[in-house]
Amino acid sequence: MAYTVPKLTDYSAEALEKAVSECLAACEAEADEVRNSAELKLFRDRWMARKNGILTQINEVWLKGSPKDAKRDAGRQLNLIKEQVGQLVKAVKVPRVPPLTEDYWPNPTTTAPAWHGRPDLPRLCVEDEALIASQRVDVTLPGIRRPIGAEHPVIRTMHEIVGVFQKLGYSVAEGPVVETDYYNFEALNFPPNHPARDTQDTLFIAGQQSKPQRERLLLRTHTSPVQIRTMEKMRPPIRIVIPGTVHRNDPPDASHSPMFHQIEGLAVDTNITFGDLKGTLDHAMKALFGTSVKTHFRPSFFPFTEPSAELYVTCFICGGSGKRGPDPCRPCKQTGWIEVLGCGMVDPNVFEFVKDNGYDPKKVSGFAFGMGVDRLALLKYGVDDIQLFFQGDVRFLEQFG
Ligand code: PHE
Repeated sequence: MAYTVPKLTDYSAEALEKAVSECLAACEAEADEVRNSAELKLFRDRWMARKNGILTQINEVWLKGSPKDAKRDAGRQLNLIKEQVGQLVKAVKVPRVPPLTEDYWPNPTTTAPAWHGRPDLPRLCVEDEALIASQRVDVTLPGIRRPIGAEHPVIRTMHEIVGVFQKLGYSVAEGPVVETDYYNFEALNFPPNHPARDTQDTLFIAGQQSKPQRERLLLRTHTSPVQIRTMEKMRPPIRIVIPGTVHRNDPPDASHSPMFHQIEGLAVDTNITFGDLKGTLDHAMKALFGTSVKTHFRPSFFPFTEPSAELYVTCFICGGSGKRGPDPCRPCKQTGWIEVLGCGMVDPNVFEFVKDNGYDPKKVSGFAFGMGVDRLALLKYGVDDIQLFFQGDVRFLEQFG
């Protein structure tokens, strides 16, 4: 019968001594039975585990249950048991696996001997096998299936557009979303207090009034500040595209979101002309929307480009007819044309801000463009509400998987 801690009612010296010797005898007998390291672990845990080991139980049952005047004696006996049990556990010897020596390996010059395991190792006993079996992992069981996500339609569109320009030799640049007034406005030729700033519906970071205006923080309203940041770092010639998030103080509705995405483009070299701009963007639109698409430039205004234009493509929903069967085509408002981006030749005033890095407006010229990715994704996938892109509804997103 395995030893269990008896309740003590009699705390006399003889009774205590008897209980102690019974306990130690049991421990010694169990120590004699230990054959291998797995059994040794079980044995050690049974007696010494902090949580519910026999020593802990004795502490609970004997010491805490003892009358006040017997506490001292009981405590002394308990310490004795602890020490003796500790020694008994320590004294148990189990066979150790001897270190490998060269002799174990079959000699490659002779034929390999039949391999029956190392005879010098202790054979597995039944308990070891049970222990191993209880911890065995069945590697043939099917795993947990994790559904593979899909690229978000806006990000997918972004990658597609960036890819078109990468094939033309453009590299990718990025910049911060929280931007200074200097990069978002001043260096892009929006002078302080100029009314052109009003068009940007800017979200300003609070508590910036004590700083000089150009250092005040805001959420960038376009990706154009990265034009300046890149030109400060890289000398001409450069060809870059800049994908990123921008913010404007627009209340959300089916076609507006206070957060949206843009891709900016910038090419600077000697002798870049408006013809290069037209050719590049015409190629890009055909690569994105199909070769039958036509492009069309209308004059516009941006403080950082001169001349400036808006690029229109033939509506890829109605093919430019303005009609869908007998119905009016909604995406192009029956005009047959869809505005896709703003662009123009880099204004010499912009180069003035980075002149020291090789951008002398007398020597270099360039073009820039900026497009709204979300709007293009809406058109491309025939989605009629921009909010769907940002609500994270899986039923919507799954359709792009
Ligand atoms: N930054 C402009 C906007 O957000 C777009 C643009 C980029 C226009 C580059 C011209 C050149 O409206």
